[in-house]
Amino acid sequence: VKPEPLKIMISGAPASGKGTQCELITKKYGLVHLAAGDLLRQEISTGSEHGKQAKEYMERGQLVPNEIVVMMVKECLLKPDSKENGWLLDGYPRSTSQATALKEFGFEPDLFILLDVSEDLLVERVVGRRLDPVTGKIYHLKYSPPESKEIASRLTQRFDDTEEKVKLRLHTHHQNVEAVLSMYGDITIKIDGNGSKEEVFSQIDNALTNLLEQKKAASGSI
Ligand code: AP5
Repeated sequence: VKPEPLKIMISGAPASGKGTQCELITKKYGLVHLAAGDLLRQEISTGSEHGKQAKEYMERGQLVPNEIVVMMVKECLLKPDSKENGWLLDGYPRSTSQATALKEFGFEPDLFILLDVSEDLLVERVVGRRLDPVTGKIYHLKYSPPESKEIASRLTQRFDDTEEKVKLRLHTHHQNVEAVLSMYGDITIKIDGNGSKEEVFSQIDNALTNLLEQKKAASGSI
């Protein structure tokens, strides 16, 4: 019997490294990466009414209303690719009501990863972050500089990546994180996210390897 694919949630403060770790996880484990923030930014780029509303909340560093976020995430989780290959949900749920909605739709994660990073590092990571609009890759001027001048010249910065806005985003994170954690207590692993991206990934990699072994054993495939 083929084991069930992995279903993982990853959370952490703004700029704690969720997107960076998700790139490494999907590369090795082939899961479908669904990032609530990326879905919202795509919606903004279409110029839709939902996109316009979402941007107002994101500029204030607040949670976008559930009417917009929940269905967006649900639709992606229901796609055949996510069902077949497993999913890696990044930045969702951020409130108990979002967690409850997911449960009601029948989506239960195997593991809830919490990236733990000290606050002074978060601000430095936000301010130095750059994105490549062509490949979607995440860079940092100091920690992950672009590989060529060509890439460097096309990098962009997110509209909410200023020191002032990250403080608002952090405040929202602190308001919600405990409530969300309390819903996933038994499947949560706290990862020290202060080290290099490779050091952080090796902790996550170990946890996922163990989880896969357990799944294989449970399905009788080893
Ligand atoms: P979202 O896009 O999810 O932003 P966020 O949570 O603030 O997280 P970030 O994307 O900023 O950071 P990250 O943890 O992915 O870090 P990264 O890997 O890029 O959400 C944006 C907004 O959308 C929210 O404020 C809210 O308004 C709305 N929203 C989103 N989800 C929602 C939901 N569920 N409900 C309602 N509203 C929602 O790394 C950051 C930088 O650090 C990069 O430059 C990277 O290169 C560098 N870096 C990463 N790891 C390391 C390392 N180990 N060492 C050195 N540098 C590193």
